[in-house]
Amino acid sequence: MATRKTFYITTPIYYVNDKPHIGHAYTCIAADAIARYHRLKGDEVFFLTGSDENSQKNIAAAHAAGYTDMDQYLGIQAAIWQQAWDGLNISNSDFIRTTEDRHKEGVYTFFDLVNKKGDIYKGVYKGYYCNGCEAFKTETEVGDDIMCPLHKKPVEMIEEENYFFAATKYKDALLDHIEKNPDFIQPASRRKETINYIKDHFADVSISRHFKTAQCGIPLPIDPEQAIYVWFDALINYLSGIGYGTDNEAFEKMWPANIHLVGKDIIKFHCALWPAMLMAANLPLPEKVFAHGFFTINGDKISKSLGNAIDPVQLCTTYGVDAVRYFLLREIRFGEDGDFSFDRLQGRYESDLAKGIGNFTSRVLTLAAKVSAKDLEHTESLDDGEAKTMIEESWKTYAAAMESCALDDALKAIWECISWGDKYMEQNKPWELAKSDPSHFSDTMVLLLEVLRHVSAMIYPFMPDTAEKLWRQLDIESFERTHTSEQLIEWIPGTVLRPSKGDSLFPPLIS
Ligand code: MSP
Repeated sequence: MATRKTFYITTPIYYVNDKPHIGHAYTCIAADAIARYHRLKGDEVFFLTGSDENSQKNIAAAHAAGYTDMDQYLGIQAAIWQQAWDGLNISNSDFIRTTEDRHKEGVYTFFDLVNKKGDIYKGVYKGYYCNGCEAFKTETEVGDDIMCPLHKKPVEMIEEENYFFAATKYKDALLDHIEKNPDFIQPASRRKETINYIKDHFADVSISRHFKTAQCGIPLPIDPEQAIYVWFDALINYLSGIGYGTDNEAFEKMWPANIHLVGKDIIKFHCALWPAMLMAANLPLPEKVFAHGFFTINGDKISKSLGNAIDPVQLCTTYGVDAVRYFLLREIRFGEDGDFSFDRLQGRYESDLAKGIGNFTSRVLTLAAKVSAKDLEHTESLDDGEAKTMIEESWKTYAAAMESCALDDALKAIWECISWGDKYMEQNKPWELAKSDPSHFSDTMVLLLEVLRHVSAMIYPFMPDTAEKLWRQLDIESFERTHTSEQLIEWIPGTVLRPSKGDSLFPPLIS
């Protein structure tokens, strides 16, 4: 039996010092759509997310909330994040916490290799540090007012003796890799930004902090008075989450990752520091790092620190999970920035969902109920050439878009199938044919049901609940369980024999 292709996708691991906001949900929802698409294709998918727990932000938040026991606080917070992802129907295979032993093992294994290679040295670090970013900032970044440009808060000047990773040893190899692999960093604008950063600003990085200032973290094996600095620790989750240091067979099966999906704010860590670390540890580099843009509210970054966050779970109680998932991925070109607005969410709910896919489904299923299973199976007289070509072309456009993370384009391709179906109905008027030409009527419905079957499969990665509802109404079992990837995209009229109209997919919103 041929082995299935593996597909490993990750999101950043989140700081859990508050509950998730819509920006965090965006990365997870996008990763989930890509993961589900690959499952639909038949790939063996591993989808990793998790929590970045060895961070001073978490300590500050725990103290502010009156906790003295960090383990207890982190346990509660990590559970809140996992529950939020469950609520958004995120199908992650695992949730890694950086305070887990399996992660520590991975970090030790990794550190040991890099240290033996001679890439760790002791030095003095002096620089501006933003607690919000958990990162040092350059003079240019902090400007004259000495503030973090992202958090709009003052940065601290820190000076201490700690350990460094000789990242610059890999500068040329890194630039070479980026040049030879145009898809390694996407979108192209981020690739350019990374190249400029590596050429002009890449430096060795401090990878430890004294426990006196760090308060938490994994002790550095060669100097237990120091903790491993957040990014050098956090990035390794992508390895430890699949068994690095604990289950080598599992690790070898999945590494290298196919996609690290990240927000544009953390691109330099993922496209410069991380590949340099991997080179130092003699590990292959991920196939692609894709950086999405930022949602803003009235032009401001949504952030815990600015206090303007929207709770995605609460949003779902009003609009439904699938509408929120759809909106976030359809509204903004994936990779670019966008502004969040309730008016636009409402607008898309009504036009694309209620009147779009909802109405199309309801019309097709109401009419199809008038045709017997025997007639729905009968396809000899069916004139379906144009529909077949339309669906085949749509799958091609859809697949190309999914493969290149153009998620909004994939959604557009689906909605073009729906428009085609609407137009076909207007032209053929099946409600009239039902009386005047029963044979042509059943043919029309066979064709429309097959279009709907394809639409139901294509929407699955984006709107899994709606797809499941549709599959129940079309009386076909979940494709993931019963269909091969080939059958899924094949045009097979006469597949749907017992359609039944259920509840409306997107009922009118109660205002
Ligand atoms: N802990 C680090 C990541 C370590 S990965 C080895 C971190 N965490 S975070 O919680 O601050 O952010 C996690 C993700 O949420 C990032 O991809 C970030 O870009 C994304 N977003 C945070 N705010 C966002 C918006 N307003 N809009 C879109 N994405 C946003 O960074």
